[in-house]
Amino acid sequence: MQVVVLNGVNLDVLARRDPAVYGGLSLSELETRIYEWASELGCHVRCRQTNHEGEYVGWCHDAMEADGIIVNPGAWSHYSYAIRDALELVPAPIVEVHLSDIEAREDWRRQSVLADLAAKRVIGKGPDGYREALEFLVAQTGKKP
Ligand code: DQA
Repeated sequence: MQVVVLNGVNLDVLARRDPAVYGGLSLSELETRIYEWASELGCHVRCRQTNHEGEYVGWCHDAMEADGIIVNPGAWSHYSYAIRDALELVPAPIVEVHLSDIEAREDWRRQSVLADLAAKRVIGKGPDGYREALEFLVAQTGKKP
């Protein structure tokens, strides 16, 4: 089973963002945890991060062959119809993850233009949200005939 994890804009500077909101972890620490969880769960994972929207769109296109995709597009989640259109082409289940509780923050963060494409959304659970997303995808694939 192959899962792609796509982190978007400003997640490369996670360690420098407000620790009260984002937990103070660096992106590489987060990715290390994701790789460890994936190996515990017996799935292959590839984590990628970019600050360039077009590159992110290209990675969504590349995810056509994946068995699952975990997306945290950062602020793009709130307005990028380009990323939404790209994710519409992904046949595998999509899990939308946000480290922070976007529903309890500023009004503009409450909307996600991807929300209805997601088979599951994990919001406000910090890094553990990615684990929950992986567990969901592993369970989904197990249900495949
Ligand atoms: C985020 C929430 C977004 O509103 C914000 O722009 C981010 C990170 C999260 O993981 O909580 O960059 O997606």
